[in-house]
Amino acid sequence: GAAPIGIDDIELSTTHHVVALDDFAEANGTDPAKFHLGLGQDEFSFPAPDEDIVTMAAAAVAPIIERSGTEGIRTMLFATESGTDQSKAAGMAVHSLLGLPSQMRIVEVKEACYSATAALQAAVGIVTRAPEHRVLVIASDVARYELDTPGEPTQGAGAVAMLVSANPKLLEIEPVSGLNSADVDDFWRPNDSSTAIVDGALSVTAYLDALTGAWTDLQDQGGPSIDEIDRVLYHQPFTKMAKKAQVHLAGLTGAQLDTEIVAGAGAEAGAAGAAGDSAGAGAASVAPEASAGPRDTGLATSTLYNRRLGNSYTASLYAGLCALLDNDADLTGKRIGLFSYGSGSVGEFFTARVVPGYDQYTRRQAVTAALEARVPLSIDAYRALHSTELPSAEDVSTPKVTAGPFRFAGIRGRARIYERA
Ligand code: CAA
Repeated sequence: GAAPIGIDDIELSTTHHVVALDDFAEANGTDPAKFHLGLGQDEFSFPAPDEDIVTMAAAAVAPIIERSGTEGIRTMLFATESGTDQSKAAGMAVHSLLGLPSQMRIVEVKEACYSATAALQAAVGIVTRAPEHRVLVIASDVARYELDTPGEPTQGAGAVAMLVSANPKLLEIEPVSGLNSADVDDFWRPNDSSTAIVDGALSVTAYLDALTGAWTDLQDQGGPSIDEIDRVLYHQPFTKMAKKAQVHLAGLTGAQLDTEIVAGAGAEAGAAGAAGDSAGAGAASVAPEASAGPRDTGLATSTLYNRRLGNSYTASLYAGLCALLDNDADLTGKRIGLFSYGSGSVGEFFTARVVPGYDQYTRRQAVTAALEARVPLSIDAYRALHSTELPSAEDVSTPKVTAGPFRFAGIRGRARIYERA
């Protein structure tokens, strides 16, 4: 049959700075448990003045190009909802920073946090037509809400770059997909605003409605049942949202799924679930509570990076994928279900198979080092940076701050200038 197509390589990058939600809680006089337990977030990444979606994206793409060269890469799809220009694709700057070949098509795609999934599916289509081609899919975002709003502690930033090819080394994407679109004003960003507008309560119900619609469509399209899916990943605007989604999916399917988002608590429930699953004669030795326990679908494992990145919008689902690939005990041959959501709104539930040998390519040390290396901002410094706007009409040079490989150097003649750091 036709060669399998999917994710051959994946990389995650983030910003120079971090804001600790403990500091944030202290400054606001809020109980820190509200963030750690209520939202499932510990920190959020925050860009230095010389960082943006382009510098994060280029940092994520660079190691992929280093490993596998540019042969057959003729398309770059850049997904973002925090674009830096209304016309020019952010991918053009990535293309020049990395010295990629001119024989390429490069575009930016938008539909809130969902568009990276549309890009991924388009990439699969391109490679289906021409299996010798490879496609770069980039998801890069800076999540910004107004200061002193409920969304503020769910800010964050990050980029994920993926190389889509035939005979991929990590994940084979399966053809059946469940889709749901509905015109809803739950979260959006008008052209004249650098921060998002959000109806928080509506956004949560719109997300869950999209999950219902996409899951139902997946079943109608003949996709796998919940029992045939080993792990489940969700878009994580804050990691508690993945728990809400998991409880919702358990309700839709009647399946017993893990609902702990704190690693450790989830592993225990998972061990009990695995024992229950193996059933047969051995089941008699398992305590009744344990054998009836939920099975481990990787929920807690999938939140490990996002608890510390904050919301990375288009990249969030794929940062969850990185966390699962890097930290699950063994995914060989397992089927992963992925639910992508973008406000406005589109939901897509698709599935992928993990390729044997995937575990030779862990990013765990690199991601952990990048998270640890972030320089904490005091709340005063963070608020000052948050309020800094760079009008395009003034030429400006940004201070050199980032320790990353690429930097946003400033604005000249209304154009954004980038350079190797
Ligand atoms: N200890 C433990 N838990 C606590 C607590 C404490 N001291 N204090 C409060 N909590 C819990 C609450 O019980 C609540 O839990 P549940 O959700 O389980 O009920 C949780 O903390 C949140 O508290 P609130 O209900 O008071 O809500 P909030 O005012 O903090 O707002 C929010 C939450 C609406 C999600 C807000 O953060 C927000 O607007 N975020 C941005 C929008 C968003 O992320 N929406 C998600 C869906 S849209 C999407 O997915 C696209 C996207 O990326 C934006």
